[in-house]
Amino acid sequence: MNIGSKILAFGKALPKKVVTNFDLESLMDTSDDWITQRTGIKERRVADESIGENSTTLAAAAAKSCFEQAKKLNPEFDIKPSDIDLIICSTATSDNLFPSTACMVQPLLGIESCAGFDISAACTGFIYALNIADTFIKSGQYKNVLVLSVDLMSRYVDWSDRRTAVIFGDGAGAVLLTAVPEADASFKGFYLNAKADKDQALYLKNTRSHYPVKAEDIDTKPEMVSMNGQAVYQFAVKALPESIEQACAKANVDPSTIDWVVPHQANYRILESAAKRFNLPMEKFICNIEKYGNTSSASIPIAFHEAIEEGRIVKNGKKQTIAMAGFGAGMTWGAAVIEF
Ligand code: UT7
Repeated sequence: MNIGSKILAFGKALPKKVVTNFDLESLMDTSDDWITQRTGIKERRVADESIGENSTTLAAAAAKSCFEQAKKLNPEFDIKPSDIDLIICSTATSDNLFPSTACMVQPLLGIESCAGFDISAACTGFIYALNIADTFIKSGQYKNVLVLSVDLMSRYVDWSDRRTAVIFGDGAGAVLLTAVPEADASFKGFYLNAKADKDQALYLKNTRSHYPVKAEDIDTKPEMVSMNGQAVYQFAVKALPESIEQACAKANVDPSTIDWVVPHQANYRILESAAKRFNLPMEKFICNIEKYGNTSSASIPIAFHEAIEEGRIVKNGKKQTIAMAGFGAGMTWGAAVIEF
């Protein structure tokens, strides 16, 4: 019997601290009007280490919220943390270069041991991790796979750089997959792509890999995110529709018949341009950028989790066709078309 993977639930975790556009007005030369009009963002969350918020704890909290949602949506599967065979975490802001976040979350979830590793594909990381998870399940190697995405971009943006800092926020997302007969599988088509960012449109350098650190360097300013917003924008308005089109082609789905699109939340205008391209109403695009800004690879699972909790993506027996699509540094881009 052929095996496929079924999505049981999504999870999310967000830091407590809210930073509004008005708060940013006192940090840099910007305004609530400018940020709202150019991006759709009103506020974002910022992690606070003094209350224990870091990539590991937020990823673990997202996993717990995912198990909670799984209990409500798919109680018959009854999968507990101890049943997980593999954790894949997509992050660009792991608390350590090693050990991976996928390893460090295990004790927080009560997991004694399971396979685990992190991947790096920036804002497209969630889609890459999903495809890897699905492939492991289809191969028969693992039955229950937990995918985590966490990014704390607030720790890497220059809070005096108005061209970059205003769009990012912190957060974590999760999804739980399990092996099922192919006929019940969620995934219908994937598309992944990547191309070297030779023009350095979106970069976060790892200073220490460029030269050995000397004692006198310890107090120097760490590397910050560097972004050419317009170049990334131009890339994104092509990459998002291309990803959806290509994944739909693999799934044999006409993009104009999609029930929902859950896109990477980078800029409301990028989503509007994709909606226009497919002649889809904006109501079909799940968008929560107003509340959280761009949470990098965490943005898709956070948005999916909320849409289910708010009763927007309702599971009432009728299967819906949903596209999830991401784009970001690398440059990377990709999409997954599912039945949910
Ligand atoms: O996850 C993927 C990662 N990144 C993205 O997806 C980002 C994609 N890019 C974008 O979302 C947009 O390019 C931004 C929101 C970053 C910038 O919006 P824009 O419409 O492309 O603005 P711009 O960079 O062309 O700047 C227009 C003007 C400039 O002023 P001048 O030179 O025309 O006088 C900027 O200096 O707006 C100014 N500006 C700002 N003003 C107030 C740039 N940032 C700000 C700001 N507040 N925060």
